[in-house]
Amino acid sequence: MTNTPVPEGTSVSDRIDLAALPQDFLWGTATSAYQIEGAVDEDGRSPSIWDTFSHTPGRIAGDDRGDVACDHYHRWREDIGLMKRLGTNAYRLSVAWPRVVPDGNGAVNPKGLAFYDQLTDGLLESGITPSVTLYHWDLPQVLQDRGGWPARATADHFAAYASAVAERLGDRVTHWATLNEPLCSAWIGHLEGRMAPGLTDPAAAVRASYHLLLGHGLAAQAVRAAAPGAEIGIVNNLSTVHAATDRTEDEAAARRMDGHVNRWWLDPVHGRGFPADMREVYGVELPERPGDSETIAAPLDWLGLNYYFPATVADDPAGPPPRARSVRRLGVPRTGMDWEIDASGIETLLLRLTHDYGARKLYVTENGSAFPDVVNPDGTVDDPERQDYLVRHLAACASAARKGAPLAGYFAWSLLDNFEWAYGYEKRFGLVHVDYRTQVRTIKGSGHRYADIVRAHRGRVRRAA
Ligand code: FCB
Repeated sequence: MTNTPVPEGTSVSDRIDLAALPQDFLWGTATSAYQIEGAVDEDGRSPSIWDTFSHTPGRIAGDDRGDVACDHYHRWREDIGLMKRLGTNAYRLSVAWPRVVPDGNGAVNPKGLAFYDQLTDGLLESGITPSVTLYHWDLPQVLQDRGGWPARATADHFAAYASAVAERLGDRVTHWATLNEPLCSAWIGHLEGRMAPGLTDPAAAVRASYHLLLGHGLAAQAVRAAAPGAEIGIVNNLSTVHAATDRTEDEAAARRMDGHVNRWWLDPVHGRGFPADMREVYGVELPERPGDSETIAAPLDWLGLNYYFPATVADDPAGPPPRARSVRRLGVPRTGMDWEIDASGIETLLLRLTHDYGARKLYVTENGSAFPDVVNPDGTVDDPERQDYLVRHLAACASAARKGAPLAGYFAWSLLDNFEWAYGYEKRFGLVHVDYRTQVRTIKGSGHRYADIVRAHRGRVRRAA
């Protein structure tokens, strides 16, 4: 796929095969609790591993932290208003475990649940379907102190917390995700150390990966028991992986990277167990117990794909697992994250989930781009590159749907500019600009473009009726 800019004035329906998308398609935006809520010590919330990490000097660009973020905890009504202005009919949010069960396990904090309760009602009153993710990386610090994800008990505590949330919201929320991107929790948090809890310990990372997936299976069962009508899925960030050259060593490295970022997370959930080649690569014994593999493969209703960029890798015999290093391809377009832009990857992955994993329902649960936006003197924010990224990726999604991928919705990352983890506030992914000094929100050009696309799809549906 080439990346020439979308010509001005090109109609979106010329570029996106909207007819390929189902009539009841969910047009959404996505956020996560720690990235937008702020109010970190209000109403009984306890610290999460991201509070600890972001308060550790040197961990986050500019030593930024999520203490206030977008102040969504207090401004959620205004933020629902923005969703309405975008014309979206769905919103993916995450629930903060440390608000709901501040001690990690045990007593439920009524005030923590009350926040998500009123948010759910507010969304539904506005005709917006909530899609709730139970874990978007904000483990209660008290549980980290007791071993974190490398400890098996964390998986049990996660299921108990999931059950409490589902009992409270399950009469109104039907869309549930257990984990967001367990890859990042395990590999970036425990192996590369660039995210909380900031470890570089392969054995801890592999154990964490195992208990995250065990926790996923236990939570899926718990949500199903508490909310019988629930549609439950898991959200993975997958990548297409290319070998840097056709050398056998690089091809093998690409296969290992594919195992590391894709198969390790998909195979066990689909009842295929943890990939044998990767067990060998990690060389760490898994903390397996009888019955675990069935739990991990608990039946699911949908799969979520977060897609940002492809990977190109070369052999790295002395490097950490998976002994494959990313190679920077020259002359390819990139976002402000320095991530390569390749919309064909989202189509390839949607089709892979369809054909190799038999997905019956798919959502793109995140996709988006950061660019250094500026507010014009007249208060508008133009972001032609983000618009281009959005249209290109939606076109690729529609193409996958046309080829048979059961795609039921798309959630743009993100509704708002927000706390971008180790990158702090500098990287802006929002369809809506946030001025962190004043908390003023401004819909960017990409937000208007998204609204146009949603409207065009809706118009088609109406005409077809
Ligand atoms: C994903 C995360 C999300 C956001 C985007 C840019 O990996 O799930 O929270 O940071 O990247």
